[in-house]
This record gives sequence, C-alpha cells and structure tokens, in this order.
Amino acid sequence: MNDDIPETSSLSDYSLSVRNLTKRYKAFTAVDNLSLDVKKGEFMGLLGPNGAGKSTTLKAITGLLTPTSGEIYVNGVDARKHRKAMRHVGCVIETPECYHNFTPTEMMTYVGHVHGLSNREIKIRARDVLEEVRMWSWRDKNVGSFSKGMRQRVALAAAMLPNPDLIILDEPTSGLDPRGMIEIRRTLNALKGRGMSLLISTHILKEVSEMCTSMTMINHGKQVISGDVNTLVHNLAQNENSVSIELRMLGNMTDTFIRDMTAMAGVSNLERTGERSVKFGFVGTDDQQADIVDLVYAHKMRLLCMNETGADLESLYMKLTDESEVNIR
Ligand SMILES: Nc1ncnc2c1ncn2[C@@H]1O[C@H](COP(=O)(O)OP(=O)(O)O)[C@@H](O)[C@H]1O
Ligand SMILES: [Mg+2]
Repeated sequence: MNDDIPETSSLSDYSLSVRNLTKRYKAFTAVDNLSLDVKKGEFMGLLGPNGAGKSTTLKAITGLLTPTSGEIYVNGVDARKHRKAMRHVGCVIETPECYHNFTPTEMMTYVGHVHGLSNREIKIRARDVLEEVRMWSWRDKNVGSFSKGMRQRVALAAAMLPNPDLIILDEPTSGLDPRGMIEIRRTLNALKGRGMSLLISTHILKEVSEMCTSMTMINHGKQVISGDVNTLVHNLAQNENSVSIELRMLGNMTDTFIRDMTAMAGVSNLERTGERSVKFGFVGTDDQQADIVDLVYAHKMRLLCMNETGADLESLYMKLTDESEVNIR
C-alpha cells in the first residue's frame, strides 16, 4: 500500500466498506443510509429490482458521482479522501457503449493509464486479460462492431486489467443470451481462486446463487438484508420450516398421480417441471416425506432422483422486496 495513504486498521480486513451511504436527487433519495462490507476474497451480490439504487450505489463507490453523505473505504483507506485507493479497484460501471470508437487495445491502454500502469505493463496485462475473455484476436477491431456479449467481455477485461484486489461490475450479464451469461460467470468464477473480491450488481437471483458467497439486497435505496447467501437461505427455510423438493421419475406420470401427490400431507405448490418430473414445496415429518416416495412406486413409477433444497433465493427475494415492483427472471 502507498506510504502516503493512512490505513484505518479496523477496516483493513475488508476490500470494501461502505458506511451510511446516501445519495439524494433533490427530494428523492436514491440510496438511503446504505452500509455494506466486502471481505477480502469475498464475492458479494448487490441484489435488487430495477430502480432499487444499485447503479447509484456502485457509481458512488467508484467515484462516478458524489454521494450526499457516507464513507467509502477500500482496503481500509478512505477512498473519498484518497482517490489513489481506487487503483486497487477494477470497474466498468458505465455501459461499454461509451467505448464504441475504441478498439480493445485502445480501451486497455486508456484504462491502464488511468490506473498508472506503464506502457510495458499495459502491453503484458492487455494480452493476458483479453486472452482470458477470449477477445485477443479481436483486439484491433472497433468495439462498436461487437455483439453485446463481446462488449461485456471486453469491459470485464478492462476491469481485470490493473490486476485489482476488488472488481466492481454493474449488471455485467444484463441483456446477454444464455451463452454470453455463462461465459461471463465462468470468467468471474475463475477469479475466485486468485483471492480477488467482487461486488456485482444484478437483479438475477441465479447469478447470486451461482457466483456469490454473500449478498446485500436493496430496495428503494435501503438495505433489506445482508449476509452469507447460504445462511440467509437456510434461515429462511428454518423460519418457514419448508423445503423445495424436485422428483425425477422413470415411467408414465399420469394425471391421477399428480392429483394424488397434490393431496399428500405437507405438499404445496406442485408443478410439473417436465415429462416425468415435478417440483413442490414441502412441510412435514420424515415419515410424511417417505410416504411421497411410496406414492411414486404405488403409481408404478421408479424414483430416479429426489432433490431437496432449502427455500431458495427467489422465495427470499419475494419475501423481502416490494412484490409489486419485483422484476424477476
Ligand atoms: N440522475 C438522476 N436524477 C434523478 N433520479 C435518478 C438519477 N439517477 C437515478 N435516479 C433514480 O434513482 C433510483 C435508483 O436508480 P438506479 O441506481 O439506476 O437503480 P438500479 O440500478 O437498481 O436499477 C431510480 O428511481 C432512478 O430513477
Ligand atoms: Mg442499474
């Protein structure tokens, strides 16, 4: 860490600490007294419906807009007072559209200079990151001619370029096709092994459950809940005392079977998920759960797989956000 930057010791375990962040636009409060901590090596999802205040939060953290109040610490350093602290952060918050007339090489050079890298370092790093996102062979073409997925990959490369401790991304998979989403997620997952921290905003729950270790859910600019993804989901399951069960079977799944299943003690919200599979909520004893398996056999089918999961993120999201404004994928 740079000598001229004082470090606040109690915060230095965190890649990022946001304290009481507020952003007002005239009378409207877009971010309302929000606090969050991203530990070193942690992947945090900032989750919330459209208009929740995710982009505003990330822009305030990265210095693209000035917060009304609040503090931001990067590796324990007050980033509002010492902008050099942001050298350890890689981010592309503005949509990559603004780089239309740049080639990936030019974009990496620009970002590299912002982060104070030498031309030699930029050259080496640019190749590394563009290869990692599989955009090296496109390095001298205009970003404007790329598909959205390719642009997002270049943006991700730019965020990775300074080899940061922390990467901040605003909805990096938004608007991508499934393949584009998977590629971005795969690249981000690969960063986990390198001890990097990530703060990623999304309104897609699957993204959080697949990539993040912790999450902060916001709505109307306020924190709704924050913590370890598995713990939050586990607690919800305990509170509601319910699990979600999916059965895959061999044989002929008849309407009578569906009717009998629906009538079983503890079964709710049964839905067919395929030719021979069903999903339902279940609250009950182990004996009652075993009765369900017996029913499968009574209907001359065989059980191929019984997948029991705690209440999922979707239930948590629905429970904690204003349902009328939720936009779930
Ligand atoms: N420059 C601005 N002036 C006024 N209101 C804004 C401005 N930018 C964002 N907002 C409002 O702040 C709220 C949060 O926006 P945003 O942070 O973009 O949400 P999200 O990224 O979660 O979809 C929205 O209601 C939005 O309309
Ligand atoms: Mg946004």
